Amino acid sequence: MLTILVTGGAGFIGANFIILARQKKWAKVINLDKLTYASNLQTLAELQNDPDYNFVQGDINNAELVNYLLKQYQPDAIINFAAESHVDRSIFSPRDFIETNVVGTFQLLEASRLYWQQLSLQKQQKFRFLHVSTDEVYGSLTPQEPAFREDTPYAPNSPYAASKAASDHFVRVYNHTYGLPTLTTNCSNNYGPRQFPEKLIPLTILNALDGKPLPIYGDGQNIRDWLYVTDHCEAIYLVLQQGKIAETYNIGGLNEQANLTVVENICAILDDLAPKSDYRHSSLITFVKDRPGHDKRYAIDCSKINRDLGWQPQENFDSGLFKTVQWYLSNSEWVNQVRSGSYQTWLQKNYDHRQV
Ligand code: NAD
Ligand code: DAU
Repeated sequence: MLTILVTGGAGFIGANFIILARQKKWAKVINLDKLTYASNLQTLAELQNDPDYNFVQGDINNAELVNYLLKQYQPDAIINFAAESHVDRSIFSPRDFIETNVVGTFQLLEASRLYWQQLSLQKQQKFRFLHVSTDEVYGSLTPQEPAFREDTPYAPNSPYAASKAASDHFVRVYNHTYGLPTLTTNCSNNYGPRQFPEKLIPLTILNALDGKPLPIYGDGQNIRDWLYVTDHCEAIYLVLQQGKIAETYNIGGLNEQANLTVVENICAILDDLAPKSDYRHSSLITFVKDRPGHDKRYAIDCSKINRDLGWQPQENFDSGLFKTVQWYLSNSEWVNQVRSGSYQTWLQKNYDHRQV
């Protein structure tokens, strides 16, 4: 079995990946996470007695700690999920994104290089550094343009996207200059269980359950390509095992949806699963001031990972969205924990000034 150092594994995608990796016995996992507002250790409570899972609280910027973990656990791979991940927050506080997404990824690459260089030839050949990135590095598409391919030029439009683009470039450099065996994945919007409710889908579910307004930026016609989180995790594992060193792989849901449609679909599911006697959930939809620099459309061409590695998404949007709503309805303890404290401050900061 592989040993993997996962960073950012107490967040949405990282936690789903770790849970799957332990269920399927893909790997022993060491999870290094700073535990920012976006994390929740309760998400991983089911692994607390698992001897092949270790959690370490810490920052990917802490070179001493990362060096120690690499020496101690001798991982076969590093998967870098750790990031500041929310576009709206990057507009308020870009510096945090540079600290973690750019400098943090650089620190992790540097520690990996030092570790990798002193491995035996056999272990060097086996080692991989997999960087989890985003489709936002490619910028925005018009409705007519073809979907993003791996060779689409980078054109990031938000501080978040720019920080991820910079990190992707450093990953490329560490392969090109030092020979570190890297892989990069650029994925579209994920949804599913355990996502922090600052993102559109969980925010809509929880606001709707509370009878609060469902904020739609602009006219609600911005398009995202939604992928169920488990499909993303399976793709990452496949790239780790079979991906060609130095290559990038685009991962997408083949599922372009306008934001308004997504929110209306969630409302329809909630009308069935949690009906209100006096109103339909869609009556809560509220158009609010747009996100500055809001990208119009993302779409991923995932033909490379399909052709070369045989991956394609398994979940369809209707069933994936239904499962996601059900998960939030059945996990009120998790929901209450993430909604306490600083989450309320964020809602005021992001939404109070948007009212139109
Ligand atoms: P998230 O915000 O839910 O979780 C990020 C995790 O990283 C948190 O647990 C946080 O505590 C941790 N973290 C932040 N700074 C850290 C640091 N300096 N050191 C160690 N840990 C730190 O993010 P997510 O949605 O799970 O995204 C994971 C990765 O996938 C990110 O790199 C993101 O850019 C990328 N991605 C996300 C999506 C999406 O739709 N969510 C799509 C494509 C790519
Ligand atoms: O495309 C991949 C990216 O998807 C990831 O790299 C990011 O980490 C992840 O946050 C996500 O970015 P988006 O900005 O697309 O996700 P978000 O859920 O914030 O918004 C989805 C769409 O919904 C976007 O067009 C903005 C809109 N939106 C969002 C919020 C929070 C609203 O209309 N209202 C809202 O309240």
